[in-house]
Amino acid sequence: MKREKNAGDLHWWQTGVIYQIYPRSFKDTSGNGIGDLEGIITNLDYLNDGIAQQSTEGTLSSLGIDAIWLSPFYPSPMADFGYDVADYVDVDPLFGDLSTFDRLVDEVHKRGMKIIIDYVPNHSSDQHPWFVESRSSRTNSKRNWYIWRDPKPDGSPPNNWGSLFGGPAWTLDEKTGQYYLHQFLKEQPELNWRELEVKEAFFDVLRFWMDRGVDGFRMDVIGMILKDPDLRDNPLNRRSDIDLPDSDAYWRLMHKYNKDLDQVHEILREFRELADQYSDRCLIGEVWYELPRWIMYYGRNGDELHLPFNFRLMSLPWDAVAFQYSVDEMEAALPHFGWPNYVLGSHDTDRLASRLGTPQARVAAMLLLTLRGTPTLYYGDELGMINGVITPENMQDPQGFRLGLHRTRDTGRTPMQWNTKPFADFSTVEPWLPVGEDYLRRNVERQSEDATSMLNLYRQLLMYRRNTPALFEGTYRSLDVGHKCCYVYAREHTEGSRLIALNFTDQFCTMAVPYNADAEIAISTFLDRTERVSLSNLYLRPYEGTIIEVVS
Ligand code: GLC
Repeated sequence: MKREKNAGDLHWWQTGVIYQIYPRSFKDTSGNGIGDLEGIITNLDYLNDGIAQQSTEGTLSSLGIDAIWLSPFYPSPMADFGYDVADYVDVDPLFGDLSTFDRLVDEVHKRGMKIIIDYVPNHSSDQHPWFVESRSSRTNSKRNWYIWRDPKPDGSPPNNWGSLFGGPAWTLDEKTGQYYLHQFLKEQPELNWRELEVKEAFFDVLRFWMDRGVDGFRMDVIGMILKDPDLRDNPLNRRSDIDLPDSDAYWRLMHKYNKDLDQVHEILREFRELADQYSDRCLIGEVWYELPRWIMYYGRNGDELHLPFNFRLMSLPWDAVAFQYSVDEMEAALPHFGWPNYVLGSHDTDRLASRLGTPQARVAAMLLLTLRGTPTLYYGDELGMINGVITPENMQDPQGFRLGLHRTRDTGRTPMQWNTKPFADFSTVEPWLPVGEDYLRRNVERQSEDATSMLNLYRQLLMYRRNTPALFEGTYRSLDVGHKCCYVYAREHTEGSRLIALNFTDQFCTMAVPYNADAEIAISTFLDRTERVSLSNLYLRPYEGTIIEVVS
């Protein structure tokens, strides 16, 4: 089918900015302390009102993002808060129903946005009818839909694999006397992707949502769906076996046989063929591998994922040289058809502003929205939300229960902070996770009124990016300014180029940028200067980032 393209021949998933919503935590309209789809619908204008008006004070009415990605909203016992799916083609009553979902799709599209949903093919819930059948007897027709193996002669699990959430990756089913595989919770049994019917069933799921107007999928741990056919023992990870507790069975091992197998690419090509039968759909994958393996997920001929998520910047120390190296290395390795993308925050990590610090998070915002490629922004990071205060009493995340309070992911999942009303107006009742203690100060309403707030920085950057071809489709090259404190790069385009200069340190920094042009600062991360500057003597304040317009 013919592809729809937007300006400059690029697709929406190339020029656009993705915003991740964790539905439980965005807005509760049903009054149960848990966010829902209606809550997303009622706040779509916050994300993109379709007009992005500028007030007389210069503040913008809307963020101006291009696509939303929803973490799972499917029927689920919520053992892993929706990443344990009990029905892939419905909506959990907690969040609404299919007709609410249809309205959401409609309202998203009306505003010119796209909708991406989470797709969890590696494992289902143990309550999914498929697994209920599969575990009912060794001869059930769905037995082979999951990964079942006999115990070893001494009764122990079939191999040494560990679960990412601690403990062994196998649970014995007493009734049928076999173990089943789960690399997450025991409530998340892994599907057998070597079984043709499993593949067909999941392809039908994709069709179901694409027929409903869904524009893209974020495919959960997609590189894990195939395992070694012989389920061989993984080798010991000699670097980390000393430090890790026994409970952390997963990271004590190398992951040679349980993920990232070459054969997974055959299935990804089939996924892509299916997506390509529809108009301009996008496949995004959660893949964490080292650069050479990660790049393979674009496919040898660009025939697999459109965007294998790039998390590489998330694990780096806050250091200009390290960031530049990571981006340059990736840019150099990308095949011509590979479109870059960057993720700085998600529902699986600490808050960006807590990891980096608030002043640094402003620089990170500019970085994310000015690098070449598709940025994914995590809800609340546009306010600079910090980690929630999680105690053993209010902890919810199963990873925290199993691996300790320091490993809980609840810190980054606290309710969206809308205004100064009780519970930050996320809900009228006590929310499922505590509202951030700073919500009276840090919320959408207050930050909308403050012309230099983090929120207004994001709005300005997004607006500027939308109107600047150099940023959404220009080339990228880093510039050597002979300083380790700053990361400087050029985004070049025939319609006008831009330089981005980011000071990663708490020191003032003056540098000579090797670029022969007249220059003018268009945006500073402090939102307080737009002025002509000399590139041979460019001056940045501590933690200041600037977008510079150049005229050569
Ligand atoms: C992915 C999700 C994470 C979930 C896990 C198991 O990594 O991002 O939240 O717990 O998969 O589905």
